[in-house]
Amino acid sequence: MQAPIIFFTVLIGIYLVQSAIEDSSKCEKDAACFSNDECNGGSCQPPLGVLPVWLGTCDCSACYPTRQAKPCKSDADCGGLKTACNNKTNLCDCVGTGLRLAKQSNTTLGKVLTDFCNKQKCDNTTNTDICNGLPCRSGKCNCAASPK
Ligand SMILES: *[C@@H]1O[C@H](CO)[C@@H](O)[C@H](O)[C@H]1NC(C)=O
Ligand SMILES: *[C@@H]1O[C@H](CO)[C@@H](O)[C@H](O)[C@H]1NC(C)=O
Ligand SMILES: *[C@@H]1O[C@H](CO)[C@@H](O)[C@H](O)[C@H]1NC(C)=O
Repeated sequence: MQAPIIFFTVLIGIYLVQSAIEDSSKCEKDAACFSNDECNGGSCQPPLGVLPVWLGTCDCSACYPTRQAKPCKSDADCGGLKTACNNKTNLCDCVGTGLRLAKQSNTTLGKVLTDFCNKQKCDNTTNTDICNGLPCRSGKCNCAASPK
């Protein structure tokens, strides 16, 4: 019986398992995120001009004003907003689509802007339905911000 060898093999085994666990709980620099919780001790840094509270909400700015009245071949050219690419003019109609959505849910465009844009919670699997195709705002993990 080579007791010391078994002992050290077990020690190395424990060490490997432990470092694997630690690695998975580390903050991964620049990893895409929707909230601080996903950055394991770091913070989820929003892109320039985006407030932290807007992370993980529907991004209306992907269509309006960036793509409003711009040429489109499909809704993808209009920030993904469903039916935003007008099939007669081949121009993005973000405002008209917003008005139509508001009418559909018996509300005003103003209400859509205040209750939906930068408010409606989403992630990358729900944005197609919940955000009507608009992207869900994400940030990048900033690990130096508050190390664990
Ligand atoms: C969500 O999807 C967009 C577009 O593909 C991508 O840029 C972003 O990094 C993703 N965010 C997360 C948190 O996975
Ligand atoms: C054109 O767009 C309108 C309004 O979104 C839609 O009702 C209609 O089915 C579309 N027509 C075609 C040919 O895609
Ligand atoms: C739309 O909203 C108005 C005012 O809130 C309400 O009186 C009306 O019944 C609503 N209509 C539908 C179809 O929900």
